[in-house]
Amino acid sequence: MAAQIIDGKAVSASVRSAVAEEVTALKQKGIGVGLAVVIVGDDPASRIYVNNKKKACAEVGIYSEEYALPAETTQQELLDLVHRLNNDPKINGILVQSPLPSHLDENQIVAEISPLKDVDAFHAQNVGKIMIGDFDFLPCTPAGCIHLIDSTGVSIEGKNCVVVGRSNIVGKPMAMLLLHRHGTVTICHSRTRDLAALCKQADILVAAVGRAKLITKEMVKPGAVVIDVGMNRNPETGKLCGDVDFEGVSQVAGYITPVPGGVGPMTIAMLMKNTVTAAKIQNK
Ligand code: GUN
Repeated sequence: MAAQIIDGKAVSASVRSAVAEEVTALKQKGIGVGLAVVIVGDDPASRIYVNNKKKACAEVGIYSEEYALPAETTQQELLDLVHRLNNDPKINGILVQSPLPSHLDENQIVAEISPLKDVDAFHAQNVGKIMIGDFDFLPCTPAGCIHLIDSTGVSIEGKNCVVVGRSNIVGKPMAMLLLHRHGTVTICHSRTRDLAALCKQADILVAAVGRAKLITKEMVKPGAVVIDVGMNRNPETGKLCGDVDFEGVSQVAGYITPVPGGVGPMTIAMLMKNTVTAAKIQNK
């Protein structure tokens, strides 16, 4: 039987519509909501993400400012901008689009973003809060994945959850969120022995490695929930494709996210949600 496709566009539209209502309610109390998006250099993928983020802000009524800085921007110039935005009352959330050009120290930049405005939840203070289960912001992509899993009606509690990938942005926080929801979590990575056997045990499988079609149907348990965070270019067709071989895996999985139209729209919806949360915290 073919898997049910999880419609990230539809789920994200419902999140954005709830966010839009909250933005309206805050405005009625005289509270504006603002996001600053910083992009350095001209990475084409980053440009698309940033454009989508700005568009989403406009749709839900969030004020946004874009800072598009040249690739030669120095560490000090970027730090100065972050400090200025930290002190700008119109700005509730600050997002510095990753990756930065290699001469810049991304960790130091993130460390200088006010934790209260860190809508990516990348700051060590927010990462630590996630570890202890006392958080204001959840990182956007993992939070979006949890929302998509919930949209299937499949409960996470007690399930075998396998996360493939251990990045700070997705894999590690994803594992932590699944653990908070009482999943039994395994994190796999490039040195993992017998990836296929581990994946095959997953009731919930999250692929976030950045390798096109790494997950094939032989690696998937029949009926599993498969969440594909991958955003790869198919070298042959030039089309966007995930880490999961959609054609094969959709024949065995119970639920599967498409690429595009799965996790991508959720990341942006969660960013909008975090920006509203930031505005609420700052105006408490
Ligand atoms: N680059 C890829 N994903 C993200 C994200 O969620 N936030 C930021 N700031 N950069 C990214």
